[in-house]
Amino acid sequence: MTSEIRRLWSVRGGDATAPLSDEEIIASLAAAEPVLRVNFVASVDGAATHHGRSGGLSDDADKRHFELLRRVCDVVLVGAGTVRVEGYGAMRVSDESAQWRVEHGMPEHPVFAIVSGSLDLDPGSEIFTDAPVRPIVFTTSRGAERATLFEDVADVVVAGSELVHGPTIVSALRERGLGGILCEGGPHLFGSLVADGAVDELFLTVSPTLEGGDGVRILAGELAASVPLALESVLASHSTLLLRYRLP
Ligand SMILES: NC(=O)c1ccc[n+]([C@@H]2O[C@H](COP(=O)([O-])OP(=O)(O)OC[C@H]3O[C@@H](n4cnc5c(N)ncnc54)[C@H](OP(=O)(O)O)[C@@H]3O)[C@@H](O)[C@H]2O)c1
Repeated sequence: MTSEIRRLWSVRGGDATAPLSDEEIIASLAAAEPVLRVNFVASVDGAATHHGRSGGLSDDADKRHFELLRRVCDVVLVGAGTVRVEGYGAMRVSDESAQWRVEHGMPEHPVFAIVSGSLDLDPGSEIFTDAPVRPIVFTTSRGAERATLFEDVADVVVAGSELVHGPTIVSALRERGLGGILCEGGPHLFGSLVADGAVDELFLTVSPTLEGGDGVRILAGELAASVPLALESVLASHSTLLLRYRLP
């Protein structure tokens, strides 16, 4: 299976039958303004995991697109549940991405920002000890009690009392010059960011499988009302769809 990606449709036009190069995909990701993007993969029947993790749903095309989204971002934002389950290490892009970033005047690697209300994270984990850039942890007043444990390895930012507040995350990152925010989930973080009206774009890879079961969906928690999405583009690789939506 190759990772050839073709554009089936885009709101901006430019439908192409030829496979897209990395540079063409990157060009489509250029943003005139700071943007908070969220990236997920799900099966056709809506499962966000296969045997408890997202990796089983991902193919080469999704991995390639995932890496290109990282390549152009300033900061990767992830919820603590995903960090624990998906076994995140220190935030490093591929060598090719690092080279591209340096050539385009960006730091070699994006900043890693983690959201944890409890701050129940291990400051001795390689996420922190091996980080090429000092990570940021967003927490609540509750988690703030553990903040001193992290003072050597991360910046801890209190951004809410019960829950971390999405717009506070966005403004704190923008104040640091980190306007290009890529959120890699998970469902509870996505739910709270959507409820807070903080998300600009959703990238959803639809993996061509049916998973059944009662696995998590990409968004957890209640929303006050349905959120309408505007389709921006449809890319495809064999039977895999890579959808891009804009939120209101
Ligand atoms: N298909 C995909 O693309 C994809 C992507 C990511 C994750 N996943 C899957 O999703 C599952 C994990 O789901 P999840 O919902 O637990 O993930 P999650 O949203 O990453 O983690 C939830 C935890 O993150 C923290 N958190 C998130 N939002 C918060 C907020 N607004 N305020 C304070 N704390 C907040 C809390 O951490 P504390 O407990 O530390 O307070 C909370 O318990 C895993 O099975 C993973 O594989 C799938």
